[in-house]
This record gives sequence, structure tokens and C-alpha cells, in this order.
Amino acid sequence: MAIQSITITQPDDWHVHLRDGAMLQQVAGYTARQFGRAIIMPNLTPPVTTAAMAAAYRDRIKAATADYPDFEPLMTAYLTDDMDPEEIVRGHADGVFTAAKLYPANATTNSAAGVTDVKKIYAVLEAMQRMGMPLLVHGEVVNDAIDVFDREAAFIDQVMQPLLKDLPELKVVFEHITTQDAADFVTAGDEHLAATITVHHLQINRNDMLVGGIKPHLYCLPIAKRELHRQALRRAATSGSGKFFLGTDTAPHAIGDKESACGCAGIFSAPQALENYLQVFEEEGALDRFEGFASLYGPAFYGLPVNDKKVTLSKAKQVVPERMGQGPLTVVPYRSGQTLVWQLQGE
Ligand code: DOR
Ligand code: ZN
Repeated sequence: MAIQSITITQPDDWHVHLRDGAMLQQVAGYTARQFGRAIIMPNLTPPVTTAAMAAAYRDRIKAATADYPDFEPLMTAYLTDDMDPEEIVRGHADGVFTAAKLYPANATTNSAAGVTDVKKIYAVLEAMQRMGMPLLVHGEVVNDAIDVFDREAAFIDQVMQPLLKDLPELKVVFEHITTQDAADFVTAGDEHLAATITVHHLQINRNDMLVGGIKPHLYCLPIAKRELHRQALRRAATSGSGKFFLGTDTAPHAIGDKESACGCAGIFSAPQALENYLQVFEEEGALDRFEGFASLYGPAFYGLPVNDKKVTLSKAKQVVPERMGQGPLTVVPYRSGQTLVWQLQGE
């Protein structure tokens, strides 16, 4: 008989956009309900570039998740061309910055202040290497000549390989990988290199986004690729390799910003993230490998303890709401209107 319930160490989400203000109030509880910790992305307006800004943002997140007092937001610094290495060193030493995020300038939402050339921030990266502080990388080149579907693969050759060669002991997380190229590259790398994988890139390919009418709520960056890449990501996530771990990249945008002539990139997957990941592992016959991916390998890479708490997911159908939230901030969750087969207990 098929397994009816699974109990694992509480997972963490190693890549989350919680936004700020009213949107933060609306979405933060969905992440805090499921996860012990979350790596909080710093692409606010203005971006989170100082430890003081990150500490203040962390306080706002704690206030927005007061119903889940054990939830721990792990803060990141938004790297810019002129970032002072001292700010990173002090912020990390003071326990404010867990990691730093590298956005290539103009690669995605609120990345205009990102890095134009990684060589410009080598002093920062050298300091991070010395401290064992992870660098989280949005791995897409920004170049009009490169097709949007090829931007991750091009990044490996043009940026990632030289970076790892120059800074061989820097801990690097290749965030939200979407290609077989990236999965192979990370598999072949040493213990300083790991990757997060989103649930949507395990479940959708570019046909899901584009065939039968464009689906703005499946548009994200890096963009979903062709099926062979999705299959490679499923193999990587369920392989049992400690180099691959959970990071949803949940990225809410108000419905009007998604259903628009120039729609924003981002998929709001937080509310049922664990249920969807677990469905993938079940489909792949890899339920025994779910806990490693969701709860163990991330902490091991970051050098943090695993969570004490356990969570249980049971076989129980649930329908994802069509919409969540109020008024202009209404968001359409990932897989809205669809029936999921697992349900997180304790709700
Ligand atoms: O789809 C995305 N949305 N990709 C990103 O890199 C950023 C994110 C956002 O902040 O909306
Ligand atoms: Zn992201």
C-alpha cells in the first residue's frame, strides 16, 4: 500500500522573497507556517545593502510572523559594485548577514543596483571566502545577444567557472537552477558548490507556460526551460546528493502586476510548497530522499544545525485557492484551483 503519511525534520526554505509593507504582512505567515528558517532575499526597493537595513528588515519580518515565534529569518546582503567589504565582514560577524546575494545588474526584479562585473567585488568575495560566508548567485548573464533560454548555461561558462577558479574555497550556492547544464556543473563541482531547486522548476516546463495561451503566473526568472531540463532537475533533486537542496524562490507579485502587458517575473509558491515538493519525490519513487533535500543538506552546507522540530505530511486532497489576499494586493498562488495530493498537518 502506498505511504499515507511521512514525518521528517522540519524543513527550511533556502530562497524566499517576503517583500515588505502590506505584502510582507500578507505572505510571511505562509513561509513561517511550514519552515523553521528561510533565507530572505534582499531585492527590496531600496535594496538591503547594509547590516542596519537587514536588521531592521529582520525585525519587520519577526513582527509579521509573530504567530510563529520560532521562525527564524536568515538575512542576506544585496551586493553592489561599490559594496564595502567591511560592511559584509561586520554584518556577518554580528550575526546579521547569513549570506550575500549576487544579482547580475538588471537580471531580474529589483536588480538594477546589482553587480555589473564580478571582478569589481573580488575584495568582498575574498573576505567572504575567509569567513566561510556563502555567496548566493542568480546565475544568468545579462546580454541582449543571448537568448533568454540560454542565459543560465552562458553564465556557467562566462562567470561561474572563472569565479570558482579564482576563489576556490568560496562557498557558492547556484540559486534556482533550471538547466541540465547547471545540474551537471554542480554535480561535478567540489564541496564548496551547491544549488537550490524550486518546486515549480521540478513541475513545469516552458510548454506549461506558453502552450494554449500564455500563463503569466508561471512566468519567472530564470525562465522555465524545455522538458529535458526539468527531468534533469528532478534527477538531481531526488538523487540523494547533498549538493541540492530546497529553495522555493517564492516571489509574490500583485495580480495586476502579473496579468499585465509587461508582467513581472515571479511565482508565489509559498502556501503549498512542501506539498508540491513531496508530490515530486513521490512521483520519482524517492520519498526516502525527501528529508535530506528538504531538511538536512541545506543546514549542512550553511554550517547550521538541523531543526529540532518534526513535521508530518499526510495523503489528503486539498484544492489550492484561486486567489489569496485582498484588493490590489491579491495574489494568485502557484497551482491555483488545482487539487494537491498531500497536506501538511497541524493546520
Ligand atoms: O522570478 C523571479 N522573481 N526571479 C527572480 O530572480 C526575482 C523574483 C522576484 O523578486 O520577483
Ligand atoms: Zn529569487
